Amino acid sequence: MKIRKAVIPAAGLGTRFLPATKAVPKEMIPIVDVPMIQHIVEEAVRAGAEDVIIITARHKEAIENHFDYNPELEDFLDKKSKAELADLSRKIGKLCNVIAIRQKNPMGLGHAVLCAAPAVGNEPFAVLLGDDLIDSEVPCTKQLADIYATQNASVVGVMEVPASEVNKYGIVGGKMMNPRLMHVDRLVEKPAEKDAPSRLAIPGRYVLSPKIFDCIRETKPGKGGEIQLTDALQLLAQKEKLLAYQFEGTRYDTGDRLGFIDATIAFALKRPELRPGVTELLKKHLK
Ligand code: G1P
Repeated sequence: MKIRKAVIPAAGLGTRFLPATKAVPKEMIPIVDVPMIQHIVEEAVRAGAEDVIIITARHKEAIENHFDYNPELEDFLDKKSKAELADLSRKIGKLCNVIAIRQKNPMGLGHAVLCAAPAVGNEPFAVLLGDDLIDSEVPCTKQLADIYATQNASVVGVMEVPASEVNKYGIVGGKMMNPRLMHVDRLVEKPAEKDAPSRLAIPGRYVLSPKIFDCIRETKPGKGGEIQLTDALQLLAQKEKLLAYQFEGTRYDTGDRLGFIDATIAFALKRPELRPGVTELLKKHLK
């Protein structure tokens, strides 16, 4: 079954990125010249999503505006014979249908995903978290959608992390079905090293059955007093098959300052028109 809908939680205050996020939504901060959330929406679209449901909050209208047309800007660019730039802007407006839903209170990631239930309905859907950029030939979400299609089961993307970092992620446990695929029977949100069921961490990519919504409704506040998606997934694993897939690709933690700089350098070096200049700059600064 094709995954037609994707949910992108983007309601957070972005406190880890202050002062940049005082007046600008964290998701609008660019990696080179493309806002982080555009990278995420493009991944969802490349995986087949037609409707992208963005969970937003007060003062974050810039996100919706970014995925709309901007006729004043586009007409101005046309008149100035800058058709390429006008097209660049229009293309973003054409990417997908954006459905913005407000999460009125910050009650956790699980709660944010539940806010999307009316727009998702009764079909499988993807969830992509905005702090994780994953660079891969086949988009990570597409890799997961393909697993969903062949296995007819919900699936979370995972990557191996050092033992010292398990406390930063949702961690899965279960039985390996092949070197990349696990049948999950346990999930723990940000466990201490000694309580982690494995070193396989979820860096923010999921393709889920709509049954997850009932599971979230049943989930009590967990870590940090928030309704955790990881806890709802534990309930889902008891009701339906849940898989974890070790995806192929490079992941950048853009919610972290160094991870953000890492992604910026990597994405700049991938651009043929920027690569020589950026290489020179790096050499200059490392002298
Ligand atoms: C969230 C999830 C966690 C996941 C992480 C990935 O945590 O709760 O399970 O591993 O995103 O980035 P956060 O980083 O928002 O605290």
